[in-house]
Amino acid sequence: MPGGDTIFLIGFMGSGKTTLGHALASRMPGWRFIDLDEEIERRESLSIADIFAKYGEATFRDIEADTLRALATHSHPDTTLLIATGGGTPCREGAMEWMNDHGLTVLLEASADRLLHRLVQAQSQRPLLRGKTPRQIGEFIISEQQRRAVYYDKASIRFPSDLLETREEIEDTCLRFIKEYHDIRHAL
Ligand code: S3P
Repeated sequence: MPGGDTIFLIGFMGSGKTTLGHALASRMPGWRFIDLDEEIERRESLSIADIFAKYGEATFRDIEADTLRALATHSHPDTTLLIATGGGTPCREGAMEWMNDHGLTVLLEASADRLLHRLVQAQSQRPLLRGKTPRQIGEFIISEQQRRAVYYDKASIRFPSDLLETREEIEDTCLRFIKEYHDIRHAL
């Protein structure tokens, strides 16, 4: 497999972008994982929650778009760059087109129940879920996924990500991902 590729993991909050990205990079020599939210936090020296609180969502979206472009245009020829975007990264006009021009976009899809379960556990890091009850998070997942579908639907491939809870599930999901990735790259 020649290097120099970029894979963008996209999908709703809780779809497993970070978990799968870390797991894949630890198994695949020559794959480098970058989590866009972590990169933003490092560059700004602030948590995502603090960036929202201090500057507001619109400024966060500008920083997010700039950081994505800076990361993805510096890939090394021998490295497959695996970038976990934020759930809202694809929802800026032109973002999906830009990612599709610069690599392979993979939409991680988990069921609404699975997203709810994961997000209730990791609510505090996510400013858009602040102050919401589990029921309100469930409603938000449904309505926001519908609103975002027009962007997410532009992904090159869709990949089921319900099974990422145990070590065995992560292993199986990684193997499935790698096989699918190779099949697609060989077909192109
Ligand atoms: C957001 C998703 C978050 C983070 C921010 C906004 C969104 O990333 O970028 O809280 O709009 O869906 P994760 O998808 O990694 O949680």
